[in-house]
Amino acid sequence: MQRRSLVVVTNRLPFDESVAPEGAFDWQHSSGVLVSPRHAHLREAPVTWVGWSGHAGPPPELPDTRGLRVRAVPLSEEEIRYHYEGYANATLWPLYHDAVEHPTHHRRWWEAYQRVNRRFAARTAEVAAPGAVVWIQDYHLQLVPALLRELRPDLTVGFFLHIPFPPPELFMRLPRRAEILHGLLGADLVGFQRERSARNFRLAIADACGIEAGQGPVRVDGRQVRTGVFPVSVDTPAVAALAEAPEVRARAAQIREDLGRPRTVLLSVDRMDYTKGIEHRLKAYRELVADDVLTAPDTVFVQVTVPSRERVDHYERLRERVEREVGRINGEYGRVGAARVHYLSRPLDRVEVAALYRAADVLLVTPLRDGMNLVAKEFVAARTDGGGALLLSEFAGAAAELCDAYLVNPHDTAGMKRTLLAAVGADAAENRRRMAAMRAQVTGHDLHAWAELFLEALVPPAADLAAPR
Ligand code: G6P
Repeated sequence: MQRRSLVVVTNRLPFDESVAPEGAFDWQHSSGVLVSPRHAHLREAPVTWVGWSGHAGPPPELPDTRGLRVRAVPLSEEEIRYHYEGYANATLWPLYHDAVEHPTHHRRWWEAYQRVNRRFAARTAEVAAPGAVVWIQDYHLQLVPALLRELRPDLTVGFFLHIPFPPPELFMRLPRRAEILHGLLGADLVGFQRERSARNFRLAIADACGIEAGQGPVRVDGRQVRTGVFPVSVDTPAVAALAEAPEVRARAAQIREDLGRPRTVLLSVDRMDYTKGIEHRLKAYRELVADDVLTAPDTVFVQVTVPSRERVDHYERLRERVEREVGRINGEYGRVGAARVHYLSRPLDRVEVAALYRAADVLLVTPLRDGMNLVAKEFVAARTDGGGALLLSEFAGAAAELCDAYLVNPHDTAGMKRTLLAAVGADAAENRRRMAAMRAQVTGHDLHAWAELFLEALVPPAADLAAPR
């Protein structure tokens, strides 16, 4: 994978627009979680990144930086409503996450999804060098592989789905299910987080398209389409270096001080999303507080939620419910100067998130369904001190690798309470043993290894030698 140029295609560019002090617009790497797969440092140069800026209107001119050429795709206000908020996040997102909220279907959303996918394909076709390798990411862009193949048959096309691929009985509800599958089958390699998703995909191809898909490659129009499993990860060395920085360590100590030096700090960090099981976790915590098992000021809970997709109904309603529940817990069980839930609802910068990870005794990650959950892996990567315990939902993709976490079923309130108490009460040596095993996992399988594995599977080194330069 040394010689061919690479184009990465994501719905959203890995930059946020910001206003510099002198009033000029500036772009900086997205904040919120510390790293994301979109920041993968890929060895091939030059890398071109195709994506949407996050705003309506004409695309910004973004300067090429550090070997990265950024090419923005414009979306209109209506396309943001219908493609991003509508089809991607109110039809596909809930359907692919076990339909924990009801998926909505509108024909005009589907039309916008097609239109935007066509624009992404056209932009990619325009910027990709002859014989380039194109890596398309996630559920917003499932039609792009086939559209791109039509425009540029010389390209090698990979697709990676960051969220789960649902079981066929859910997927088959999608009115345009066959079109979605034919879109994905335009790729040479379709990658998933877990084997279960890859299996669901093969079953859906048989059910919706009548194409037999056994264990090996799928034959489509005389081509072979491979599937594979590549669990995404975090940039472990970068997270560890940040967590070790004096600024972060000092801030972590200050946080514990500000919280009143409790014996136990519980922490959760999530995007405000109904798949994250925030309400289920708050309920378990409220019951533990009501049972008087987690007593103030010995135990405090810090809940950070980063606002997300706020114009989508499900998200707006979730925020109201979460805030009502936090208010209820503090109102019924807090004291002046001793809140039971410290609730922050805004994006935090990298230093603050890393300091919170370092300050926590137990991180609670309790999604009802999650493709991977990088917060869980970041926490482990940040605990270079070997401390901290992870309470993790068995429905997060990360549970397949982080088997030494305290695994819970978020629907089982009693079980979640029991397991949380076990994590809080375990002796330090047991928690350190678990953390060491999980740290070995995220050290051996980090973001770089993930990108390398996928790209090597997409273009095996021998094939690369024959490629046009
Ligand atoms: C998930 C998706 C990503 C998405 C991210 C943030 O992790 O898999 O594709 O970018 O959520 O969501 P947003 O809607 O803000 O892009």
